[in-house]
Amino acid sequence: MAARAASGGSSRGLALAGATLMMTVGLTACDDESPRRMFDATAAGDTAAASTGGATPDDDGDGSTSEGEETDDTPDVATPLTPEQVTFYLSRIAPTLVGRSLDGDEVALIELGGEAALAPIIDGWTAEPGFAEAVRFMVSDMLHTSGERDGVDFDLPGNLAAEIAAEDLPWSTLLTADYCVDGAGKHIACDTGAPYESGVLATRAYLIANKGRFNLTRAKRMLETFACRIYPMEQEIQVPLEKASLIPMFQAEKADEQTVEEAKGGFGNGVACYGCHSQFGAHAQLFVRFDDQGLWREDATGVQDPEGELGRSIAGLYTSHFADPTRAPDETSQMFGVEVENLRAATDVLTDSALFQQCTVKNLVARSFNLASGVSNDIDAELIAEIAQGVSADAQHPTIRHYVSSTFTDRRVVDAVLATMEAP
Ligand code: HEC
Repeated sequence: MAARAASGGSSRGLALAGATLMMTVGLTACDDESPRRMFDATAAGDTAAASTGGATPDDDGDGSTSEGEETDDTPDVATPLTPEQVTFYLSRIAPTLVGRSLDGDEVALIELGGEAALAPIIDGWTAEPGFAEAVRFMVSDMLHTSGERDGVDFDLPGNLAAEIAAEDLPWSTLLTADYCVDGAGKHIACDTGAPYESGVLATRAYLIANKGRFNLTRAKRMLETFACRIYPMEQEIQVPLEKASLIPMFQAEKADEQTVEEAKGGFGNGVACYGCHSQFGAHAQLFVRFDDQGLWREDATGVQDPEGELGRSIAGLYTSHFADPTRAPDETSQMFGVEVENLRAATDVLTDSALFQQCTVKNLVARSFNLASGVSNDIDAELIAEIAQGVSADAQHPTIRHYVSSTFTDRRVVDAVLATMEAP
């Protein structure tokens, strides 16, 4: 924990190197549970950001830097960090990334090298066992999976994550691995009985922890955690399913189109069912053969149980969004506009997407600074996109180690954290 002064929820604008990126920095104490905003783009000069991709040495938009005496708005040439600043910054991120505080050697290295110590120290962390454990925790926590209950090993997702981190495998392996990892680190078959594996997603742990009617929670958790999108999202990203293919309840775009009595109340906010569920349905379909115990079922029908609650199919399965009873049990679906055979094929499309890369960066930043990830605007989207682009420029499927070193050595990330150091 980095002890320092805090100034409650106050915030101020801060012009960062390049002057196109401005962030509102919310200040709270380290252990404070209250939501904070550190990398918020809402105060940014939108027009400035839109008009140029590069650094502009001139006007930084408004008077919001009045308090930021330390701010250097000269583009590209950032003032070197002092040992004190490096210590402050690294102390802040060490617990999340490596599960400990700075050690004596690191403190000495910082005294000696100042800013030059930053990258080697972060790089050293990612080679430590504590890093793999931190990644295990991150994934288990994001997916709501850990421990063991009723004979189901809820640690499988975390085990895989830890191995991927420790062995420097591409981070996309998290969703595409064709094996699971047991508590002893051995590769084993996963536990759903499906004719394919799909990393952490095709585990009973994920499927049970996120089960629910119409398979919506499984779909939503997947998209929110790995693409930082919820429904509705951009139609260019997730092409809506054809209206006529959906069960009538999800076709409705206006209240008077709603034919299903139970669903009529849902129009209070004026948003069309079809708008969200035409995208939702495609992702939910990938889970249509997994029952409420997380087992893949040959006999799944995807059809609504006439006796059951809305969204429940027979025998512990969940209802498809597709109306046609021959289509309903078919796992074939569409991910980001690409037709896919099943969940495993969908994760190839997902992990090839820039959204996956950006969301990985966003999750790392969010977790290290106790911010919201997913679709939250707490973290500036442009900053995230630029870091992700840099990481993926070197490798299409970067390792988590690569993501971490690029993200946490980015001067804009460092500066946003240091801004909290100067709080009164
Ligand atoms: C803004 C996007 C959005 C719109 C619009 C929308 N839904 Fe949903 N719907 C969701 C989300 C998100 C969930 C919850 C998924 C989860 O379980 O986490 C959901 C869940 C449901 C469920 C399952 C309920 C449950 O408790 O599991 C039903 C049924 C449903 N929606 C029907 C409708 C109908 C009918 C309409 C139109 C009146 C509609 N939705 C409009 C996003 C939307």
